[in-house]
Amino acid sequence: MLDKIKKYQEEIAQFSATEISEVENFRIQFTGSKGIIKSLFKDFKEVPNQEKKAVGQALNVLKNAATDKVKTLIEALETSVAEKGIYGDLTRPQAPIEIGSRHPISIVKNRIVDIFSRIGFTVSEGPEIEDDWHNFSALNLPEHHPARDMQDTFFIEKNPDLLLRTHTSSVQVRYMDDHEPPIRTISPGRVFRNEDISARSHCIFHQVEGLYIDTDVSFADLKQTLLYFTKELFGKSKIRLRPSFFPFTEPSAEVDIYWGLETETDYRITKGTGWLEIMGCGMVDPNVLKNAGIDSEKYTGFAFGMGIERIAMLLYQIPDIRMFYENDVKFLEQFKAVT
Ligand code: DAH
Repeated sequence: MLDKIKKYQEEIAQFSATEISEVENFRIQFTGSKGIIKSLFKDFKEVPNQEKKAVGQALNVLKNAATDKVKTLIEALETSVAEKGIYGDLTRPQAPIEIGSRHPISIVKNRIVDIFSRIGFTVSEGPEIEDDWHNFSALNLPEHHPARDMQDTFFIEKNPDLLLRTHTSSVQVRYMDDHEPPIRTISPGRVFRNEDISARSHCIFHQVEGLYIDTDVSFADLKQTLLYFTKELFGKSKIRLRPSFFPFTEPSAEVDIYWGLETETDYRITKGTGWLEIMGCGMVDPNVLKNAGIDSEKYTGFAFGMGIERIAMLLYQIPDIRMFYENDVKFLEQFKAVT
């Protein structure tokens, strides 16, 4: 009998398990109500008296060994399950991560900023609630000037001197107030106009204003800068400047790019001409320099301004300006791949 017990003792010592169910089988086999140990205790009755002491002790040791084994194995397996809960199954394929997307207005704004920063332009900002001086008067648009009517303005009722800026040209004035030439800056931002909302226009939109002031800045510099910009942004290398009027620049021009007439869409968006207007520009009017405290005898400069929505609509063939503000996830998701 002692030999038998010794054999089981070894078996217990060697047993190990990776699953709780294996431990359970082991428990039933040894310490269960019909298990090995129970039956050994039954056999114990037959053991001759002189051996009873030794066999009894050995049996007790065996019983304890089996119960201890079950206990330690279960504890070990339970902690490893808990650890798996923390770390998960490390071999499992990664859960798909939803990538967010930038808003197309931000994408285009960032591209414009990037293009101009490569030729030394800094980024500047100004307030959306502006005063009359910075939005109009300093820009050569005195009170009662007819050009003010073109910019349907939201005024602030409590203070008629305050308004929502109608263009980012106001930032020019603020920047010139605070900086000495040479000045090279672009000012992206949100602007407001009291206009009916339609597929083509909105009462809130975005512009980027550009300003370059130094000694000997000429119209040729302006043209070259714009050509560089349109090449970089649109990949188109043909532009034309049409004479125009803005109170803050003299001479002023509107910039068209040659879009081409290759597809039906090209025909439609260029109204069959192949040309598209993308921005206004000109040489900063000496009055504007004076208003901002810059010596107009010593310095000259150019400025330009463009609408970001319009450019985004061209680049991504977006048919309706209202889509930018609806926050329709199906629309926005399409820009995931664009950075
Ligand atoms: N501020 C003009 C607008 O809102 C855009 C503009 C045109 C800005 C010509 C300029 C410029 O700086 O030179 O329509």
